[in-house]
Amino acid sequence: SEQGCLSVVVLGASGDLAKKKTFPALFHLFAQGFLQSGEVHIFGYARSNLSDDGLRERIRGYLKGASEEHLSEFLQLIKYASGSYDNREGFEKLNKEISEYEMSNKSESCRRLFYLALPPSVYPSVCKMIRTYCMNPSGWTRVIVEKPFGKDLDSAEELSAQLGELFEENQLYRIDHYLGKELVQNLLVLRFANHLFLPLWNRDNIDNIQIVFREDFGTDGRGGYFDQYGIIRDIIQNHLLQVFCLVAMEKPVSLKPEHIRDEKFKVLQSVNPIKNDEVVLGQYEGYKDDLTVPDDSNTPTFASVVLRVHNERWEGVPFILKAGKALSSRKAEVRVQFKDVPGDIFRCKKQGRNEFVIRLQPSEAMYMKLTVKKPGLEMATEQSELDLSYGMRYQNVKIPEAYERLILDTIRGDQQHFVRRDELKAAWQIFTPLLHDIDAGRLKAVPYQPGSRGPKEADELSERVGYMQTHGYIWIPPTLA
Ligand code: BG6
Repeated sequence: SEQGCLSVVVLGASGDLAKKKTFPALFHLFAQGFLQSGEVHIFGYARSNLSDDGLRERIRGYLKGASEEHLSEFLQLIKYASGSYDNREGFEKLNKEISEYEMSNKSESCRRLFYLALPPSVYPSVCKMIRTYCMNPSGWTRVIVEKPFGKDLDSAEELSAQLGELFEENQLYRIDHYLGKELVQNLLVLRFANHLFLPLWNRDNIDNIQIVFREDFGTDGRGGYFDQYGIIRDIIQNHLLQVFCLVAMEKPVSLKPEHIRDEKFKVLQSVNPIKNDEVVLGQYEGYKDDLTVPDDSNTPTFASVVLRVHNERWEGVPFILKAGKALSSRKAEVRVQFKDVPGDIFRCKKQGRNEFVIRLQPSEAMYMKLTVKKPGLEMATEQSELDLSYGMRYQNVKIPEAYERLILDTIRGDQQHFVRRDELKAAWQIFTPLLHDIDAGRLKAVPYQPGSRGPKEADELSERVGYMQTHGYIWIPPTLA
């Protein structure tokens, strides 16, 4: 039953995630007609003592991109309830408010969506409270949670078990917001709806694959949080690994969410143990100036990790997962580098190999680096590209925000773009030994300059495992004249 009144409860309503991501996403869904007044109610819940208007004022400034009229209509849908995260009073009150709203709405069945915009330390108690006091008597109850799901395999499994006792897997929506990005979602279509790629996508043709995340700012006041986790837990073990799954997995039986997640799980299980000599860790200079970061922190703000997949398709092909903060630029991309042309009569090797690049952000694009004849009288070659830049090709299309899409999926009951419990476990299995080595100081982060490319050791590692950087060619995102 995807019909009937809908209550969206944002727990942690006065926090950062709620303000910056959850409420704006709900607002955009509202402005596009996916949530309708009369059908939906939004409840904010947090400890602070606020009035309905108080909450509305707090989030108002973050709601952009629609008319004043839409905005005030949306704000009127929001109510606030305060209470703590671990005692019955607050949750009974919350339940009462939701029930009253459901009663006043005449539909036969209702839907309840709980969005935990909270630190994971309170997930177990909050989930327990929801399970005990706020379950929907007449329709579905779903819960959205977001990483960090634990710090290593054991802690993650413990959390999974706690939540698993309270909710069925099909009620739990583990968000990885990278799965809500347009070009991440496109990977499945690209790979399996184009004959062109089918015979090429394997060890016979591909030399190496990079999945890269760069940010041009540091931990920006989040140092205290970040220092507990580091870049591998913050970006690589989740966001980049999810992208890796979509790039490396076999073709699913069908588009059913469980079929897709089966394949992701399967390829994760085929990943070999990481070798510490195929890892480079970095920490940018100045990271420890943050007062909340200990002076002897070994937490990496940069890491490059080579994954090797033990299966027929990928044996011998390195997947280089690389992420860093405080680098020279901000972008995320997948870079598939093909092998050299055998028996090359053009000597084009020095110009660079064929590379298929999927630019996830910013300036979403896909481009294929090719060697072509240099236009003109000479028989010379040069690198060029076939370029599908979204800004050019889809000029009037607004690409939805990841959170917008994922919340809509949750309302619709589609778990394709959410992380299943077994995937999460497999992801932790891959990274836990490495993380324990870093935590114990057996692997050290080397310093790098903020605003640089990261440690030079990372470029050396990529080169050592086979990546060939193209020199003298750079792709420039085309702009509209
Ligand atoms: C979050 C990380 O999950 O993703 C942040 O915790 C990071 O450290 C952010 O900045 C990046 O997301 P996006 O969508 O801006 O690439």
